[in-house]
Amino acid sequence: MVLQRDHGSSLDALAGTKYLTLPCLLVFHLRAVQRTKMRLVHSHCTGILSSRIAIRNSINQLTKICTSHLTPELKLRLITPESHLWKCKPEDCPFVDPFWGFYWAGGQAVTRFILDNAAIFRGSNVLDVGSGCGASAIAAARAGAVNVFANDIDRIACEAVSINSHLNSVKIHIVNHNILASSEQINNMDILIVGDMFYDSEFGSMILNWLLNQRKRSRIFIGDPGRHGLLQVSKSLSLTLLAEYQLSDQTVMENNGFKTSAVWEMS
Ligand SMILES: C[S@@+](CC[C@H](N)C(=O)[O-])C[C@H]1O[C@@H](n2cnc3c(N)ncnc32)[C@H](O)[C@@H]1O
Repeated sequence: MVLQRDHGSSLDALAGTKYLTLPCLLVFHLRAVQRTKMRLVHSHCTGILSSRIAIRNSINQLTKICTSHLTPELKLRLITPESHLWKCKPEDCPFVDPFWGFYWAGGQAVTRFILDNAAIFRGSNVLDVGSGCGASAIAAARAGAVNVFANDIDRIACEAVSINSHLNSVKIHIVNHNILASSEQINNMDILIVGDMFYDSEFGSMILNWLLNQRKRSRIFIGDPGRHGLLQVSKSLSLTLLAEYQLSDQTVMENNGFKTSAVWEMS
């Protein structure tokens, strides 16, 4: 399989669109979302969020630009304690499982690693799998990767990646289909980035199988704070620890007490 962009061809045009006014106020309970099991289907948006412009306007209205994380040189639109969504009930939230609204501990670590080790990524074709807010993909582009692909099955995450890439003045190709479900190998990527994708045991096994299938073709960098899903499969992986970072108090609170997050290379 040769990865090609399938989303966002007219994003530049959309980026300049005026905000729509949304009638609703959203409340969101962080812990409830973190407990939610990831769906292996596209999240779908409800009612007013059905158009891309409305989705983008909602993301812009309901998130805050945040730099208080392990990579403060990147501006990211996130759900922060200052956002209405932070305290809102899940049923009042217009987004289904907004994982893209958080910068996960594993993603923070691998993104910090990319920025600090730009030479590894410079000139490469890079794929960020499960990109969420897009931070790792943005960092790869900043590091000088020649082509950067951000993949997420959540179409709202894809809009968040697009918005965040504009905020940081980098170009990212966005891929919205479920490449993990395909048995076809991806042939044209030098580097795969996997930020915090082992949060669920079942899903962790699926990622593992996919990575095992890919590892002869691409270097693979995994960011993870030590979640059960990674520990469970780590015996089947040949992992080299590359870096470990202290997390901020805010990130510790969002991640059930994980105080550090690490970067591993799989071989
Ligand atoms: C825990 S978040 C991590 C996001 C980001 N990498 C980070 O570390 O901040 C997991 C992300 O993976 C996405 N995801 C889940 N299943 C996926 C799949 N089969 N293919 C691509 N993305 C997927 C989710 O939509 C979500 O954005």
